[in-house]
Amino acid sequence: MKLFPVHSILWSSLLLVLLASQSGTDASNPDVCQDTRSYGSLERNSSKPVDHHTEIVKKIEDVVCRLYPTNKLNCSWPSILQEDIQLSVFISICDDKKAVFNFSSVDKGGPVSLTLLEQEISDVLILQLNVTQHDRWTAVIHTVKMSELEVLPPPTNISASVRDGSLTVKWSLPHSRETNDSSCFQYELDMGDQENPRQLDGEESYTEQNVDPNLTYKVRIRARKEEDCQEQPEWSDWSHTVIVEPSVHKLNIPVIISISLGIPMILLAVVLLVRYQRVSEVLFPPIPRPPPKYIYFLEKNETSNLFHTAPPTEPMEEITEVEDTEENHEKTLSN
Ligand SMILES: *[C@@H]1O[C@H](CO)[C@@H](O)[C@H](O)[C@H]1NC(C)=O
Ligand SMILES: *[C@@H]1O[C@H](CO)[C@@H](O)[C@H](O)[C@H]1NC(C)=O
Ligand SMILES: *[C@@H]1O[C@H](CO)[C@@H](O)[C@H](O)[C@H]1NC(C)=O
Ligand SMILES: *[C@@H]1O[C@H](CO)[C@@H](O)[C@H](O)[C@H]1NC(C)=O
Ligand SMILES: *[C@@H]1O[C@H](CO)[C@@H](O)[C@H](O)[C@H]1NC(C)=O
Ligand SMILES: *[C@@H]1O[C@H](CO)[C@@H](O)[C@H](O)[C@H]1NC(C)=O
Ligand SMILES: *[C@@H]1O[C@H](CO)[C@@H](O)[C@H](O)[C@H]1NC(C)=O
Repeated sequence: MKLFPVHSILWSSLLLVLLASQSGTDASNPDVCQDTRSYGSLERNSSKPVDHHTEIVKKIEDVVCRLYPTNKLNCSWPSILQEDIQLSVFISICDDKKAVFNFSSVDKGGPVSLTLLEQEISDVLILQLNVTQHDRWTAVIHTVKMSELEVLPPPTNISASVRDGSLTVKWSLPHSRETNDSSCFQYELDMGDQENPRQLDGEESYTEQNVDPNLTYKVRIRARKEEDCQEQPEWSDWSHTVIVEPSVHKLNIPVIISISLGIPMILLAVVLLVRYQRVSEVLFPPIPRPPPKYIYFLEKNETSNLFHTAPPTEPMEEITEVEDTEENHEKTLSN
C-alpha cells in the first residue's frame, strides 16, 4: 500500500524473474519478508510426496483472506478438523522487505481472525499454513497483495426519491483504501420489490422508470470492486435502508402538522373557556353584592345614567334628596 504503483509493478516483474533462483523458506524464518515471491503465488513444500494427504493440502490451498472495513483480517479455508492433524499458521505483513506484523498459532485447523492496527495494514501478506499428519508435513505459502483482500464498506450518502413516475437513487463512492476511481466499483441495488436486485457498474446513481408512486420503496445498496480492480471481490455489507413513502403520504405531512398543532390549540381554547367561566363567576356573581363602601358610589352612578338617558323620576329624587348640591350640579350638567 505504501509502495507507489510503478514501484510495485517493477518489483513484481523483478520477482517473477528472480523466482527461479529464490531460496526456500521455512515456518520459523524470521526474514519471511526478505524472500522474494510474486504476488498471488502459492508455494508448496513437503517432507514427503503429498499424495498421502492430498485432500487436506487441497483444502488449505483454498485459503481466502479478507480485510474488512473494521481492520479485521479473516483467513479461512475448508474445515480440516481431524484428530491426527495439526495445523500451524504463520502470518506476516510486509512493508517492502520489513515485517510490520507477525502472527503464529498452532491448532487443529480453524479459521484465523485478527484485528490489525492501521500501521499494520501494509503492502503484502504472507500466509503460511503447515499441516502435519503423523510423520509427514506439507507447508503452503501464499503471497498476496493486501489490496486484493479489501472488502469495501457499503456506499454512503444514499438518497432516493420518486418524481414524475421515476425512482431515482443516488449515493457516494464507498470509501476504499486503494482507489477512488469510480470505474472500479460495482453496485447492487435492492429496491425491496419482488424483482431481482439491479447491478450497476461505475455509476453513483440509478433511475427506475415507470414506478408506481403509490408504493413504498425500501432501497439498500452494497458495493464491491470490479474484477479488473480486484480478483474475486466480495460484496460489502448492505447499506442502511432508505425508505421512499408514496407521495400521498407526503401530502399528508402538512395535515399531520396542522393536526398536531391544532389539537393543543383546541385544548388550550377549552381550558381557557372553562377558566374564563370561573373567572366571570367571581367577577360577576349572579347576585352582585358590592361592598358597603361602594354602594353609594354605584347608586350615584345609576342616577347619573338615568339623568342622561331619561328624565328624573320620583324615586330618584327621593333617594338623592339628601345630597342637594350634587343633585343640582348634575341637573346643570344635564342642561
Ligand atoms: C522446505 O522446507 C524445508 C524445511 O523447513 C527447508 O529446508 C527447505 O528449504 C524448504 N524448501 C523450499 C523449496 O521452500
Ligand atoms: C512444518 O511443521 C513441521 C512440524 O510441525 C516442521 O518439522 C516443518 O519444518 C514445518 N515446515 C515448514 C516449511 O515450516
Ligand atoms: C516480525 O518478525 C520478524 C522476524 O522475527 C522481525 O524481524 C520483525 O521485527 C517482526 N515484526 C514485528 C512488527 O513484530
Ligand atoms: C471473521 O471471523 C470471525 C471468526 O471466525 C467471525 O466471527 C467474523 O464474523 C468474521 N468477520 C467477518 C466480517 O466475516
Ligand atoms: C452527498 O451527496 C451530496 C449530493 O448528492 C453531495 O453534494 C455530497 O458531497 C455528498 N457527500 C459525501 C460525503 O459524499
Ligand atoms: C480518496 O479521496 C479521499 C478524499 O478525496 C482522499 O483522502 C484519499 O486519500 C483518496 N484515496 C485514494 C486511495 O486515492
Ligand atoms: C394511486 O392512487 C390513486 C388514488 O389513491 C389513484 O387514483 C391512482 O390511479 C393510483 N396510481 C397508480 C399509478 O396506481
